[in-house]
Amino acid sequence: MTQLRDIETREDCERLVRAFYGQAFEDPTIGFVFTDVVGLDLEAHVPRITDFWTTVLLGDKRYGGSAFNPHVAVHAKVALEERHFERWLQLWFGTVDDRFKGEKANQAKIHALRVAQAFLQRLQGFPGGTADPMKAR
Ligand code: HEM
Ligand code: HEM
Repeated sequence: MTQLRDIETREDCERLVRAFYGQAFEDPTIGFVFTDVVGLDLEAHVPRITDFWTTVLLGDKRYGGSAFNPHVAVHAKVALEERHFERWLQLWFGTVDDRFKGEKANQAKIHALRVAQAFLQRLQGFPGGTADPMKAR
């Protein structure tokens, strides 16, 4: 068995992000949000999300966006509920744990949990669209 190392570089962050979206797009609970509701252009999206994680984990301050706002727009189309965030977190934790181990890997999970909790709570103040994937198609 190979010993897992910690997240160290931007390449590590990008590897995580790509692995995560590979699973998220296929996922029965949240996949439809990316594929059907938003029709996400993954190649355009990966550098931005990678910037987010290098900012959080490596402190390079490349991410200058406002991560919450796009989720309000998504939520208006299809209500993002607790079960969606739970699944998102499950996939993210699994993606991290399968590849890395250490302080940064822990931070990647802790920060995602905090952001997910904050997003879910803040979204309650915005009208949500239909949560039914069949209707969202
Ligand atoms: C190394 C230190 C940290 C960095 C570089 C960092 C970076 C970030 C970034 C870039 C965002 C997205 C901001 C946005 O798009 O508006 C964010 C969001 C957030 N962070 Fe951190 N963070 C750090 C530590 C922490 C800590 C210690 C906590 C809590 C104790 C925390 C809790 C949150 C929460 C709750 C959000 C979501 C806020 C929201 O939009 O509702 N972060 N962080
Ligand atoms: C139910 C859970 C979630 C779903 C379905 C979801 C879905 C999405 C979608 C569809 C976009 C693209 C929006 C667009 O550009 O049109 C997006 C952007 C993004 N998401 Fe999420 N998201 C979820 C949770 C989270 C969490 C927990 C985090 C952070 C830990 C996060 C971080 C981001 C960031 C950084 C962006 C890029 C924002 C920007 O362009 O600056 N998301 N998300």
